[in-house]
Amino acid sequence: MASITSHSPQETFQLGQRLAAGLRPGDVLALEGDLGAGKTQFTKGLAAGLGVEADVTSPTFTLVHEYPGGRLPLFHIDLYRLEDAEEVLGIGLDDYLDGDGVTVIEWADKFAALMPPGVRWIRFRVGEGDDREIAL
Ligand SMILES: Nc1ncnc2c1ncn2[C@@H]1O[C@H](COP(=O)(O)OP(=O)(O)OP(=O)(O)O)[C@@H](O)[C@H]1O
Ligand SMILES: [Mg+2]
Repeated sequence: MASITSHSPQETFQLGQRLAAGLRPGDVLALEGDLGAGKTQFTKGLAAGLGVEADVTSPTFTLVHEYPGGRLPLFHIDLYRLEDAEEVLGIGLDDYLDGDGVTVIEWADKFAALMPPGVRWIRFRVGEGDDREIAL
């Protein structure tokens, strides 16, 4: 597992942007890490790398944001506020996972059992100052 230290929001954005180049239809990225660790920032870069032009914002309250229009559709999900598996399935998780887009899931570790085979985990750790340890 490769671990990278990002020293700024820009570096985390660029990491997402670079990673987007290798994404394929149906890929699922499970993001784990504390509040403010950089999961959304990373997803903004990923969206930019896919060619999504819309402004990517945190789906904390709306739970899912869909971004068509890039090289692949991007589905951005945040499970922070959800309490049980029934709720998670209620937002249509399986439809996103089975689709031909790229699904990025913040706080995926809360519902690790619902992640599909082949999911790629990306773990964020807050370090000193603006440092973020990102394990891919
Ligand atoms: N190296 C870094 N990488 C990413 N973000 C950084 C970095 N250094 C500082 N930051 C700041 O940390 C915050 C990261 O916020 P972000 O919304 O991406 O976190 P998050 O992991 O999605 O949190 P949440 O669990 O609340 O959704 C931003 O305010 C950003 O400016
Ligand atoms: Mg977030």
